[in-house]
Parts: sequence; C-alpha cells; structure tokens
Amino acid sequence: MEVNKRGQWGSNLGFLLASVGSAIGLGNLWAFPYKMGKSGGFAFLAIYLVLVVLVGIVLMLGEFALGRHTGHGAGGAYAALAKKYSFVGWMAVISPFLILAFYCLLGGMVLRYCLGFLMQIFGADGFVGQGSDFFGWLRYDSTSMLLFLAIFLAITMFIVMGGIKGGIERFSKAVMPALAVILVVIIVFVAIQPGAKEGYAFMFKPNAETFSTPKDFFDVLKTASGQMFFSLSVGMGINITFGSYLSKDRSLQRNAVIVPVADTVFALLAGMMILPACAAFGVDYAQGPGLLFASMQKVFLDGMGGMAGNVIGFLFYFLVFIAAITSSIALLEVCTAFIVDKQLDKGKEPKRRAVTAIFVVLIFIIAIPVALDALGSGGAAVKAPYELMGLTPDSEGFAMWNDCWLDFYDMITEGILMPLGALIMSLIMGWALPNLVKNECEESGHKFKGAQYFKFCFRFVVPAVMILVLYTQITSFFG
Ligand code: PHE
Repeated sequence: MEVNKRGQWGSNLGFLLASVGSAIGLGNLWAFPYKMGKSGGFAFLAIYLVLVVLVGIVLMLGEFALGRHTGHGAGGAYAALAKKYSFVGWMAVISPFLILAFYCLLGGMVLRYCLGFLMQIFGADGFVGQGSDFFGWLRYDSTSMLLFLAIFLAITMFIVMGGIKGGIERFSKAVMPALAVILVVIIVFVAIQPGAKEGYAFMFKPNAETFSTPKDFFDVLKTASGQMFFSLSVGMGINITFGSYLSKDRSLQRNAVIVPVADTVFALLAGMMILPACAAFGVDYAQGPGLLFASMQKVFLDGMGGMAGNVIGFLFYFLVFIAAITSSIALLEVCTAFIVDKQLDKGKEPKRRAVTAIFVVLIFIIAIPVALDALGSGGAAVKAPYELMGLTPDSEGFAMWNDCWLDFYDMITEGILMPLGALIMSLIMGWALPNLVKNECEESGHKFKGAQYFKFCFRFVVPAVMILVLYTQITSFFG
C-alpha cells in the first residue's frame, strides 16, 4: 500500500526519540526559562504542569491516534475523516510554516553563538569585540542574521530530504542521548556556583501572591498555554504526521505519556540551568526573549570567564543547536508530508526533495522581516509591526501589534491557530467520533485503561480551557 511509499519508522524507539526530539527544542531551552522568569516563577510552573496533564497529554494522544488511524499527515488526516474537516488540516500546516520562519532565525543565532565560542576556544575573538554586548550588535547586523538563518534552514532541509527513516530517525537517535548528557554536565557546573540557590527558590517556592488580580491569572494562563502548545509540539500537524508512520502494534497511549513527560523534564532542567545561573551572576530573570542570548553571554564571558567560559559556552550552544534542529526537521516534515500525501492521493510519484526545497525558499522569504527588524529594537532595516502602525512602545494599542515580527508570528500560531485547532480536534474526538481514539489505541491488542479519563478531557476539559485561552488572547489583542 501507499504506506510503503510514504516510509515508516524503523522501530518504536526511533519514533519515540524523534517525537521527543521534536518536542524538546528552543521551546524548552529558550522559551520556557524566559517565560517562567517573566511570569512569576513558580506560579507559571504550576499552571504549566496542570495544563500538560489536562490538555497536553490528551491532545498528543488524539493526534497520534488520528495520524495512525488515517495513515495521513496533518493535511490529509482531517480530510480523510470527513471533507468538512479539511480546513483543520490546513490550519495545522500553516502553524509549522509560520513557526519555522522564526524558529530557524533563532536556530541561526544559536549557531552564530556556537561558532563564536568555538573561535574563542582557539584564541580568536568570536564576538567582533562586543563581548557580552554581542546580542545588541547581532540583532542589527543584517548580513549575519540572514546568513545564519539560511545556514540553519539549509541544514534542516537536507535532513528532511533524507526521508523519514534515513533522515529524521537516524539523526534523532544519535543526538538525543548526547543532549541529555551535555545538559546534566552544565547543570552541575551551575549548581556549584555561589548564589545559585536563589534561582531554585524562584522556580520551586509557592508564590500565590503573583495572582493579585484575575487579570494576572489569565495572563499567566495565556502564556503557559501558548508555551504548552509550542513546547509539546501539539496543536499542529507534528504528532499526526509522526503517528501516521507508526505501525499498528505499538502502544499509542504509552508514547503519548512518555513524550510530554520527557519534554517537561527537559524544560525543568533548562530552567534549572538558566535561572540559577542568572541568580548566581546577577542577571534579571524577567528580561524577556533575550534572556538566553543576552544573559547567558554575560554568564559565560563575564561570570565564568576564560577558557572554562568558552568551553561551557560552546557546549551550551551546541546543545541548544542540536535541540533546535531536531525540532525544525519535525516542523518542516509536516509541511513536506502535507504535499507528498496530496501527490500520493492523486496517484503521482511523490517529489519529496523538490517539495521540501520549495517550502524552504518560501520560509526564507517570510523569515526576512523576522531577521531584519532587530527583534523590535527599533530603527532597523525592516520596520517592526508596531513601527509600521506608527506606534512607539509607550503608545496605546502597542500590545496589540506586538513588539516584533517574531512575536507577531508567534501570537498567530501559539496564541490563536493552535488553541483553535485543538478546540476543534477535541470536539471531533469527544463528540463527533468518540470511539476513534479508544479503538485506535486498542489496535495494539492492549486494553486502553485510561479511556474514560481521555474521553472526559476531550469532551469537557480541553474545550473549556481552549475557550478560556482564546477569549483571553482575543480580549488582550483588542486592548
Ligand atoms: N516543541 C519544539 C520546541 O520546544 C518546537 C516545535 C513546535 C517543534 C512545534 C515542532 C513542532 O522547541
């Protein structure tokens, strides 16, 4: 059958590592610590964990089941259920496409830092004389931003062109264990620095006073929810696509628990690496999306200094780079599979390589404003959305237009498209086709013990939470 032309995972471990590899990425290492730093530490963490259990795991299982049941990636899967659901498939493909535009830019910046530290190790100046202010320089350097974006995109493209087994699976298998090891090494290093303790307290000490008004609560909920979608890679096509390559004798439910747990553990580890490091080296937790780049640089160059700083800095960015690549290949795979499935459905020979290359060109084009607006710092080669609207950061209505193109794409995807897609999927799985998940889970011959819990979540919990999140998002968007 067509399944063979599409490719299939070589083993469950390969599938699992690729899924975990897709989940663990900049969401864990870059976004989680900075969002936690900005949104009140423990308060954010607590809501995040509740969301993972009530929503994240449930969506992941639904997506695996949908993919395997229909044998299609995101686009085709919904259409295979019923024609009227096709639009959800489109939504699930637009998200990774938009995310790739900023994901690959960040990945490229990571690569630049990685090279910088490598040069330092060999005695050269890796940061054009800017030292710990390098981030300020890099944002405005159009050539570097575009060049490293292009390099990161090209690496992603070549892996995805290799196909499901030769490319993604082989790569993930090799790098995921290495990633875990490097992470632990850095955590131990940070833990023995004086002052690190305070960072752990920030993360783990209950602080209900963060929610002094309902609005505070909803703001944290919105941030935590977006983070959950992004970090677990749910609410778009990823897990549908990966599930479609999985054979029927594997346990979906086990995989749907292992992936979120592993992802959450990595997010916590990233927090335990970055936040205590900030505490130890006097960096403000709440400084926003720049936290990873601006502050860790301070930590490595000014805090640790010397050869140790260069080596740890290199290891750190190398780790982030690996994590980002295993995620970007998953994102691109969704786009590729969308078209490849369409070609197969029409009885054509799939053109995997050409399709992938065309997507990469389009992504590069829409990434240009993201690369050239200096992340909203103003006065750059390309105007940020708020500048185009003639606003300044203090004007009324500023929040509505977001500070930079990165945030704008991010808001459209994790703020709107993903919760909306998740809402529709949970309604389909809970009400329209209530037996699909259970039957698909039991294909492996095991009884699906959690069936009642999942059904309840699909029917009530996920829709309720998604409506709350969308409502919060829309009200804050319109001021
Ligand atoms: N989950 C990835 C991360 O945490 C990002 C991602 C989102 C990857 C969606 C694939 C799909 O970085």
